[in-house]
Amino acid sequence: MQPSGGRRVVLGITAGIAAFKAAELARLLVRDGADVQVVMTRSAGQFIGPMTLQAITGRPVRDALFDPVHEAAMGHIELARWADVILVAPATADFIARIAIGMADDLLSTLCLASGAPLLLAPAMNQAMWGHPATQANVAALVERGATLLGPDDGDQACGDTGPGRMREPAALLGDLQASLVGARFAGRRVIVTAGPTQEPLDPVRFLGNRSSGKMGFALAAALTAQGAEVVLISGPVALPTPRGVERIDVESALQMRDAVLAELPEAVLFIACAAVADYRPLEVAAHKIKKEGTSSLKLELVRNPDILAEVSARAERPFCVGFAAETDDLEAAAESKMRTKGLDMIAANQVSVSRGFGTDDNALLVIWNDGRVALANQPKTQLAVQLVDLIADRFDAQAATKNSG
Ligand SMILES: Cc1cc2nc3c(=O)[nH]c(=O)nc-3n(C[C@H](O)[C@H](O)[C@H](O)COP(=O)(O)O)c2cc1C
Repeated sequence: MQPSGGRRVVLGITAGIAAFKAAELARLLVRDGADVQVVMTRSAGQFIGPMTLQAITGRPVRDALFDPVHEAAMGHIELARWADVILVAPATADFIARIAIGMADDLLSTLCLASGAPLLLAPAMNQAMWGHPATQANVAALVERGATLLGPDDGDQACGDTGPGRMREPAALLGDLQASLVGARFAGRRVIVTAGPTQEPLDPVRFLGNRSSGKMGFALAAALTAQGAEVVLISGPVALPTPRGVERIDVESALQMRDAVLAELPEAVLFIACAAVADYRPLEVAAHKIKKEGTSSLKLELVRNPDILAEVSARAERPFCVGFAAETDDLEAAAESKMRTKGLDMIAANQVSVSRGFGTDDNALLVIWNDGRVALANQPKTQLAVQLVDLIADRFDAQAATKNSG
């Protein structure tokens, strides 16, 4: 699947340090089948060479408004009409300010004003610049007018600060762009996603846990939000920032996760159980720290945790249910059996090992439903999430159509 295949993308690059990442973004877009025309601000050339981008995209970079060759045929308007989408990455504070007040003082800002194509902005700047009321007001004005904001992310910055202002990673931006191209498939619909591990307490300082990082569930939450969904993300303990626009509920144990899911269920049309919920929990939780003195071994008695997904799926009034199967052996058979036993609408299976699946940034999935299956190739989880959401939307729409005709 190549959602940007054949799409004409103007990739705007402005003068921020993150401009070096634009080369990778251009490469990913080209690999996804997009026709990419890079347009740089004059100052962006201080950060990345046009020759690199020309070599990647196969098109000379455009950076001049007063270009006698192109403007013989009103090149800026031609390009504004050519674009299916304009993605500016990185978008500096300066550029955001200029387009927020409708300036058209270089080729890129003129294109933004002259084009009816969707405008996606990936801001990248120092956290103080991002937090400044002027920048926030400019961004709010642009979003109000229909621009889509991609990020920024939170984290370490080139200047040594930490905070919001990092440009989203190129793979994530590709996923965002793909999602915007296929259209908002869950507009206004409420969706529950569970993510991460659960921690089952043993005593006040210890727990039984697992290696789930939450990355897949968080990527799904972001991809669903990009599709217009109102996402409630119920997460076990993870070290991940909440995707923009997502409502997050933090829990620790399987029992807490079950309570949170059941409380949110009445409004939801889709439930994606991506969390690695512990099958068992200690029968007794010690009130005080368990001491090793005087013991050579310790026996734990475990009891079964409720199966949240099976419980939701068994309800008469229930959302479309998608499960995940992380298996070490016989992936396909195990996933199919899990789908049928739990009465799921769809299951996404992945092979896990110590180095694959849990905690990694990439993964591959085998997605199975009652009369079909698709293998999604190994790729960043952010992209995988976009593709999986697309498949879920197809099945969701098909099921709704059958119900309506029945
Ligand atoms: C070394 C250096 C790094 C910079 N990095 C950023 C940045 O990451 N984000 C930003 O908004 N401005 C950054 N600036 C400031 C912009 O380059 C400056 O505002 C410039 O006028 C933006 O031009 P443009 O918006 O036309 O591309 C940086 C400036 C310098 C000298």
